[in-house]
Amino acid sequence: MKRYPGKKISTAVFISGRGSNLKNLLKFSKKKNSPIKIELVFSNNKNAVGLNYAKLNKINTLFLSSKKFDVLEKKLLKVLQKKNIKFICLAGFMKVLTTNFITNFKGKIINIHPSLLPKYKGLNTHQRVLENNEIYTGCTVHFVSAKLDSGKIILQKKIRILKNDNIRRLSNRVLLEEHKLYPKAIMKILA
Ligand code: GRF
Repeated sequence: MKRYPGKKISTAVFISGRGSNLKNLLKFSKKKNSPIKIELVFSNNKNAVGLNYAKLNKINTLFLSSKKFDVLEKKLLKVLQKKNIKFICLAGFMKVLTTNFITNFKGKIINIHPSLLPKYKGLNTHQRVLENNEIYTGCTVHFVSAKLDSGKIILQKKIRILKNDNIRRLSNRVLLEEHKLYPKAIMKILA
């Protein structure tokens, strides 16, 4: 994706919960050499803690809910187009976007996942990794396709699992790596 020198790409972040990656991306976006400007935070969960953080930082927020996800997506698309959003970062967004939605942002939606994809797609990754006595785990930033956690990989970070790791410790250590990896992946494809 080309950009004019000095002009940041209007970006939306989609969240469903805690928002630590959102917080990290906001910090990153404020750096001079960051290629993104976060103009909107969208959540499908009105109680997402990350929404409060966005509001505190005076970023526009949007909450939409609908029993039919395609109806929600249509409303969301209108807002994104009106706000001229060109790039989307999923950060703990717990819904799978439809092909129709993704087609409108081809190659412009990325996601972070707490495993070494293609291994451990979906939920409860750390628990499954530990149950399987894996030696390594990590995190992955990838382009989003209509199949869960399956688009082309942009960057991965591998870490060794420690003897005393439990779900909490492991997820904390992976999260620290996520916060380094997400900005790096954005730089890789946009800077
Ligand atoms: C992260 O582990 C991310 O990789 C996964 O969901 C979690 C979201 O955490 N997709 P947070 O809301 O960014 O703190």
